Amino acid sequence: MSDTATIATTTMTRAVADAPQETGALIDHILTRYHETHRRELPELVQLARRVEAVHADHAAVPRGLSDLLHQILGEIEVHMKKEELILFPAMRRGVNGLAVPITQMRHDHDDQDAQLHAAEQLTDGFKPPQDACGSWRALYERTAKFADDFAAHLHLENDVLFPRFEQTAAPQGETKGPLP
Ligand SMILES: [Fe+2]
Ligand SMILES: [Fe+2]
Repeated sequence: MSDTATIATTTMTRAVADAPQETGALIDHILTRYHETHRRELPELVQLARRVEAVHADHAAVPRGLSDLLHQILGEIEVHMKKEELILFPAMRRGVNGLAVPITQMRHDHDDQDAQLHAAEQLTDGFKPPQDACGSWRALYERTAKFADDFAAHLHLENDVLFPRFEQTAAPQGETKGPLP
């Protein structure tokens, strides 16, 4: 296993160990530990990336396009998190059956988000700043790597812990409660 894969596995194991088991408490944890943290951190990362790209525009290792990519991630995960917060998670709290279709949609979103994170990793040489990087550049990579780590843990908790609890029982015809996406 590569070093990166080992670190990722450790992060995932810790994320699951830190999360409560009960579904309502797990959802609360996802909202406070991940959704709120992404909303607080991502706009700051976009600003920081803009500054670094502008100041070091002539540097060979400048992560050109990182601020646009982070801005795109910010917009897309906001829409995604809103769908979870307003529709999917409330349905889960009510114990609604037949959530396989909206969960499949969320899993597609997660795949897109995962691809965007990989693009960020590539733009930044695996979040490794060049030798002569200034403090802002180093801070940008350190904080973006922390966001990527958090985000991977967030996806893991939803994909592998929360969602499977609602995918096993298909709803008999006409039993689905309420409108779902
Ligand atoms: Fe989420
Ligand atoms: Fe999600």
